[in-house]
Amino acid sequence: MHTPLALFLGAAWLGRAAAIYYPLIEYSGTTFFDGWDFYGAIDNTTWGNVTYVTAADAEAESLAYVNEAGNAVIRVDNGSTVLPDGIQYRKSVRLTSQATFSVGTLLVIDALHMPYGCSVWPSIWMNGVLAPGEVWPAAGEIDIVEAINLMDNNQMALHSYAGCVQAPGVVQSGHSLITNCNDTTASGCTVAETKNNSFGAGFAAAGGGVFALQFDVAGIWIWFWGRASIPASITTTASAFEPGSAAGGATMNISDWGTPSAAYPASGCNITEFFPAQQLVVDITLCGLWAGLPEIYDATCPGTCFLSNIAGNGSNYGAAYFEIPSIRAYALDAGLAAEAQYNASGGAQTTGSASGAGAGASETGSADQSGGTTAPSGARRAGGVGGEGRAGWVAVGAGALVVLAGVL
Ligand SMILES: *[C@@H]1O[C@H](CO)[C@@H](O)[C@H](O)[C@H]1NC(C)=O
Ligand SMILES: *[C@@H]1O[C@H](CO)[C@@H](O)[C@H](O)[C@H]1NC(C)=O
Ligand SMILES: *[C@@H]1O[C@H](CO)[C@@H](O)[C@H](O)[C@H]1NC(C)=O
Ligand SMILES: *[C@@H]1O[C@H](CO)[C@@H](O)[C@H](O)[C@H]1NC(C)=O
Ligand SMILES: *[C@@H]1O[C@H](CO)[C@@H](O)[C@H](O)[C@H]1NC(C)=O
Ligand SMILES: *[C@@H]1O[C@H](CO)[C@@H](O)[C@H](O)[C@H]1NC(C)=O
Ligand SMILES: *[C@@H]1O[C@H](CO)[C@@H](O)[C@H](O)[C@H]1NC(C)=O
Ligand SMILES: *[C@@H]1O[C@H](CO)[C@@H](O)[C@H](O)[C@H]1NC(C)=O
Ligand SMILES: *[C@@H]1O[C@H](CO)[C@@H](O)[C@H](O)[C@H]1NC(C)=O
Repeated sequence: MHTPLALFLGAAWLGRAAAIYYPLIEYSGTTFFDGWDFYGAIDNTTWGNVTYVTAADAEAESLAYVNEAGNAVIRVDNGSTVLPDGIQYRKSVRLTSQATFSVGTLLVIDALHMPYGCSVWPSIWMNGVLAPGEVWPAAGEIDIVEAINLMDNNQMALHSYAGCVQAPGVVQSGHSLITNCNDTTASGCTVAETKNNSFGAGFAAAGGGVFALQFDVAGIWIWFWGRASIPASITTTASAFEPGSAAGGATMNISDWGTPSAAYPASGCNITEFFPAQQLVVDITLCGLWAGLPEIYDATCPGTCFLSNIAGNGSNYGAAYFEIPSIRAYALDAGLAAEAQYNASGGAQTTGSASGAGAGASETGSADQSGGTTAPSGARRAGGVGGEGRAGWVAVGAGALVVLAGVL
């Protein structure tokens, strides 16, 4: 059903498809775990019965490592016995990126396997960086991958507050479940994936696939492609990923990405207002406020969430792991990507690890052909990585932009 509104919104998205993105940061191979913090505390946000390990424990217990194929594995402890008294929780992992990502970022997440099974609740998501005194969801949340128990499809969501909705008639392949993103208590504006094999045993059997996020001033869009359907733009640029590179083989032209699974155009939610800088989070919890709610747990799983799964020797968690070849971030803003290259080449004094800040700096005349990507300066907040002097950043960014001037 194409209403005039839908056609208008579709046209708006197609306009963004002309965008070119520049390599910013890559998490892959032996350096995958550089640039993340391990939570090192119980799950005090979704109240799953897990203890998220520290980096040292993750390494000691092989809960986060790079396997022989060179892929990152992030998993639930399936070798320890947890008593049914509930005093001791099962160990799992929650990673938070040190880098922050703002409006103007593109994320490409390649996974071969994602955690599933009764009680299992994995997610790959963006958590807004709260300013002092703010409480969630004041800085927003973008859920790219999230599902529970024996669900066979992924579910995407935005979490925000009053004034942010999923506009009616959006062009997306997924199925909207809730369109109000105002979410001080509930589930956000959710979209169920309708493509096959986006989660669970089906995802793993199909060789996994790729999830992508376009976080743009004009809207937020999320894609999923099974292994056999990944666009050529993604498969052909992967090996040439080089932070800051403007080379044709390294930049990402998303014109072949097709219709997104979930679409949240700015006509329903002002992205720059509701979604400041975000940190990327990868976690696996067990039971808790979604997977463990009895009426939800009972829909696909037997017994009770804690006693039938977490308690015991853990042998039921053999499938509760991520296997991730890569997560790549791109920047719409050529100046930012050039800055990353400048830093990586030793041009700036960095603290060493994969650092980065969001895109969306305020240079005009960026690669965005539809114009108007200027983000408010507040979009780049302190509080993420590299919270050092903003003035220093501006100087480096301006210098790096000159390097790219001939390409723009
Ligand atoms: C969760 O626990 C950690 C570590 O104790 C603490 O720093 C953080 O503020 C807590 N978060 C919430 C939302 O309570
Ligand atoms: C699991 O965690 C929830 C939330 O913290 C808690 O209420 C419950 O007692 C825990 N279950 C067990 C068996 O420990
Ligand atoms: C947003 O959610 C809050 C808390 O649930 C509620 O009080 C308010 O009426 C909601 N506003 C809108 C516009 O949905
Ligand atoms: C999804 O799988 C079902 C059952 O295997 C099949 O009938 C259907 O054609 C598939 N849909 C798509 C879009 O591939
Ligand atoms: C992106 O790819 C499309 C399709 O091949 C092409 O028409 C367009 O010119 C490309 N954009 C840029 C900036 O190279
Ligand atoms: C969206 O929010 C930004 C930042 O608050 C503001 O500058 C801009 O004018 C808003 N756009 C619209 C269309 O309201
Ligand atoms: C682990 O527990 C399961 C379920 O109780 C049981 O079937 C299995 O034999 C146990 N495995 C080991 C190695 O003890
Ligand atoms: C834990 O799961 C892995 C697969 O993820 C499996 O290879 C291993 O045998 C399991 N360990 C136990 C003790 O069940
Ligand atoms: C470049 O280095 C500066 C100084 O350390 C840092 O503030 C900035 O975040 C870095 N930029 C990128 C894109 O890594």
